[in-house]
Amino acid sequence: MDPSTIFKNIDRGLLLLIIAFIVSSFIQNTPKKGPALFIAGNTKAHNTDKGLKDYYKNYFPIGVAVSAASLHGPDSALIVKEFNSVTPENDMKMGPINPSEGVYNWKNADDIVDFAVSHHIKIRGHNLCWHNQEAIWMFKDTNGKPVTKELLLQRLKDHIFTVAGRYKGKIYAWDVVNEAVDDSDDTTQIYRKSNWYNICNGPDFIEAAFKYAHEADPHARLYYNDYNSEHPVKREKIFKLLKKLIADHVPIDGVGMQAHWKLNDPSPDELRKALDEVTSLGLKVQFTELDITIRLPQPKPATGAAAPGATILPTPDPGYTPELEAKQIAQYKMAFDIFRQYKKFITSVTFWNVSDRYSWLDQRGGGLMGGAAAAAKAPHLLKKAYPLLFDENRQRKKAYWSVVNF
Ligand code: XIL
Repeated sequence: MDPSTIFKNIDRGLLLLIIAFIVSSFIQNTPKKGPALFIAGNTKAHNTDKGLKDYYKNYFPIGVAVSAASLHGPDSALIVKEFNSVTPENDMKMGPINPSEGVYNWKNADDIVDFAVSHHIKIRGHNLCWHNQEAIWMFKDTNGKPVTKELLLQRLKDHIFTVAGRYKGKIYAWDVVNEAVDDSDDTTQIYRKSNWYNICNGPDFIEAAFKYAHEADPHARLYYNDYNSEHPVKREKIFKLLKKLIADHVPIDGVGMQAHWKLNDPSPDELRKALDEVTSLGLKVQFTELDITIRLPQPKPATGAAAPGATILPTPDPGYTPELEAKQIAQYKMAFDIFRQYKKFITSVTFWNVSDRYSWLDQRGGGLMGGAAAAAKAPHLLKKAYPLLFDENRQRKKAYWSVVNF
């Protein structure tokens, strides 16, 4: 072989080696914590770096509210990678699961439980007694008249025995009673005037629900769940309720603080105070429905501004501006800094929905404008809340890094 050809071949070989070396060192040096890559519908994440649950493995489980449908779609890979607890967003509520006497819709709830069990994910049950999404049939007798307290409690007992009984040993914690405390500033009005309260002529249904849940599944952890539990007036009302439950030897393990929060609400002091109060009673805390909306309170329209019958246009989505993003990052960081300080008392933190692609807080302008079809034609009328740690493309937001880099 001609010596110049040999040299050319050596050169080419060398060149290839150098390229291979550069490519491999680039791959190795790429930061491991870049956004994760997921394949739609595939439960196997494509990168091997940690999820939220791994960053918090020495603290508490990290959960997420799910629908049965989300477990078969593009959210499922992210759920499995990032979370080790799930709560059914709607599928175990009284109305959806028990729409009429003796009728139970198990399909969605069973799907969620099966999914979680097969992926070794913990399950929080939500919820056994609430005034919303309730089983309205329970409040009326066959003649359409309000039922007696005795019949209502019997129905509540049957419901709780059937639902908590079915998932005994699989659901480790239940929100037994949801939102039974009154929202007003009237400090003497402790309980919400719901159908439950009115028919029972008082708060007995709360204690009854805990008793039934404990009988149905003696090993399940039982929680009282509510929102705005950091606001001073409501906090004190919840405190009174808890003290009464404890004095009456009701089997309660802890308090669910829903944590539907805002950019400046709660303050760190309010959050600490709420935690101190509840834990002083020997109760555990779970943050059960965490999200931090970027939406600011709506200014009230000036009186007389709109002509009668005029269409009120919702204000357009302000978008996820850098300023709002920075405030959200700071609020998330503040919250998780405190959560970690209280790890002895906190037994889980659950986000309400998976990513900013869909949040229950997103406000569709369509309601006033002619329904969902109109809203779909005018997507700018959708006012989004951007309240979670994953963006609309299910990628980690900066707020994500602010809670895992500690
Ligand atoms: C919400 C769900 O996210 C929505 O899909 C549904 O339309 C209404 O309920 N407090 C609770 C949750 O305890 O059950 C609520 O979930 C949010 C407020």
